Amino acid sequence: MRIALLSDLHIGMHRPRLVQPMLDAIADAAPEHIVIAGDLVQRARPDLFAEAEAILDQTGLPWLCVPGNHDIPLMNVPGRLLWPFRDYQSAVPGPREPLLELPGLKIIGVNSTFPYRWRNGRLTSRQIERVKHLARTGPTLVVQHHPISLLPGETKELMLNAENALSGYDEAGVDLVLTGHLHSFNTATSASGMTQIHAGSALCDRVEDPPNEIAMLDVEAGEFQLTRMIAPKDGADFVAQPPIALPSRH
Ligand SMILES: [Fe+2]
Ligand SMILES: [Fe+2]
Repeated sequence: MRIALLSDLHIGMHRPRLVQPMLDAIADAAPEHIVIAGDLVQRARPDLFAEAEAILDQTGLPWLCVPGNHDIPLMNVPGRLLWPFRDYQSAVPGPREPLLELPGLKIIGVNSTFPYRWRNGRLTSRQIERVKHLARTGPTLVVQHHPISLLPGETKELMLNAENALSGYDEAGVDLVLTGHLHSFNTATSASGMTQIHAGSALCDRVEDPPNEIAMLDVEAGEFQLTRMIAPKDGADFVAQPPIALPSRH
């Protein structure tokens, strides 16, 4: 089974010339499902959410998404505090913490976006307990926008309760945690074998970011393989890199 991993599309501050190449790369890789770790749009406006939805629907694939901080209002404080997810949910109806059970992999969506802490987010103990409960059986991928640990040299502040999420997920046997927000790909594996996949940004046009990228996750008999697909800044296509084997805990 193959799943496309996307994050940080930032529609509204994206590279329009990379939209079709991204769609072509997804079509060529032929995943069965798409998972998105938030920041669909740059600003939480209905027209941008509609554009993001239209792009994703062109894949013809089912897609699962969790909110990122850019998916709730920033400057519109009443909107952010009173109806933060209203426009997001017009493009992404259904639960903000979706659960998907695919053959051989359970995907647990977690909403780490918190209107009172716009940039860095938080998780509650209850959210962590939910993941621990759901992760008890079989291979599991958790997807949330905010990282639960930072990479060496990263200066962004962690979300509230990140350490408890890291230890809780790890103890519960979670295999993979897909996070976005940093716009810089990396992986970090704990001593007991849980791997956090820091996704790159699929389409964001921020000049200081590394090149845009998406990834494909192959799951076969509990084994994981990750293939990054990178669009060089002066290039026009997402180019597949040599696959990386990720540890399995089952
Ligand atoms: Fe982002
Ligand atoms: Fe973000």
